[in-house]
Amino acid sequence: AAPTRYEAENATVSQGAVESNHAGYSGTGFVNGDNVAGSYTEWTVTAPNAGTATIALRYANGTTANRPSDISVNGTLVGDDRAFNPTGAWSTWATSTLTAPVVAGQNTIRATASAVGGNPNWDFLDF
Ligand code: GCU
Ligand code: CA
Repeated sequence: AAPTRYEAENATVSQGAVESNHAGYSGTGFVNGDNVAGSYTEWTVTAPNAGTATIALRYANGTTANRPSDISVNGTLVGDDRAFNPTGAWSTWATSTLTAPVVAGQNTIRATASAVGGNPNWDFLDF
């Protein structure tokens, strides 16, 4: 089935803000997390069945350095220090896709900045 789009501006944000000052985002904006380790954005998604799901994260990183992020599903780390490499500009967006086990029904997917630079900017999660 086609994925469902979960906009970052509708997710739960710890240490960050919804902003719209860089073009190219989907929906009404994106999440700019604070540039500290531990800041996170968490999406709640619904899976029709338990199994292995595809998670696509759209992001921008306008710096020249990786912005690693720990990706967890229901509290289990599924992407340790996953790399979100530079996209060239804050208005240039890229999609990073991973797979992870999920349960039927609601699942929480959290992206936690694992280094002092913080997360990239998040546009959406397709699930
Ligand atoms: C700039 C940019 C933000 C970004 C931030 C960062 O301030 O405008 O959108 O989040 O850099 O370095 O994280
Ligand atoms: Ca930021």
